[in-house]
Amino acid sequence: MLPWVILYNAVSLDGRITGFDADVELYYELASKLDVDAVLMGSNTVLTGFGVKPGENLSESEEVLKPRVNDPEDNRPLLVVPDSKGQIRIWSELLKMPYIRDILVLCSRSTPTEYLNFLDERYINYLVVGYQQVDMENAFEELNTRFGVKKIRIDSGGILNGVLLREGLVDEMHLLVHPELVGSTTSNSIFQAPDLEGEYHTIKLKLDSMEKIKNDIIYLKYKVLNEVLK
Ligand SMILES: NC(=O)c1ccc[n+]([C@@H]2O[C@H](COP(=O)([O-])OP(=O)(O)OC[C@H]3O[C@@H](n4cnc5c(N)ncnc54)[C@H](OP(=O)(O)O)[C@@H]3O)[C@@H](O)[C@H]2O)c1
Repeated sequence: MLPWVILYNAVSLDGRITGFDADVELYYELASKLDVDAVLMGSNTVLTGFGVKPGENLSESEEVLKPRVNDPEDNRPLLVVPDSKGQIRIWSELLKMPYIRDILVLCSRSTPTEYLNFLDERYINYLVVGYQQVDMENAFEELNTRFGVKKIRIDSGGILNGVLLREGLVDEMHLLVHPELVGSTTSNSIFQAPDLEGEYHTIKLKLDSMEKIKNDIIYLKYKVLNEVLK
């Protein structure tokens, strides 16, 4: 069975997820209320968030090369990152984030063995699902059956959002709409995906709730109607 998937983004009124002044404190405050078992973060989001280039290393302590003791009572979410190209080398930095209990990396058959060894040496768990890129549907199945993940929050940019939306894997969309207009032909939007050919099969949504939070920021919650796609 697939977990319940909530795509959660701070957006400008014109649907951009970068290039405006997002209320980060509010974003994380409301995110913590979603009570999820896992957070799925795109690899570009990790790299941008930590200000590092693909493959860049930072100095790490000896501790990272020792097994970690996991507390079974720890109910903070698991951080899950698809990184089939092995671009992220700063896992010890991510482990310092206070709101996660541990990390799981999603790899594919194309992930270099050297990178899998790098993860093994650091006791970072990984799953190999898919050939070239990560097979997200299989990954979600595995997350549920092997890791008990019933509910996931997606914290990623338009690329991973686009993959998940097009594959019909998103159940809810939560948007914190900021009263700003970015206006750009290049800036990332909540849904980056190839143009559809032929008939338009847009993804239909049903509004669950809308709330004015503060400073004219509107919190919109939608159900995704995946009938057309599945
Ligand atoms: N405003 C907000 O709420 C918000 C939230 C999060 C992020 N952001 C911003 O979004 C930007 C990053 O977004 P992004 O769109 O560039 O990248 P992203 O969504 O963070 O990362 C792309 C992810 O998609 C995966 N992917 C790509 N194609 C795939 C496929 N066919 N099958 C499976 N997985 C696939 C990649 O995996 P591989 O590495 O394996 O290829 C990677 O993990 C940053 O600037 C960040 O600050 C904004």
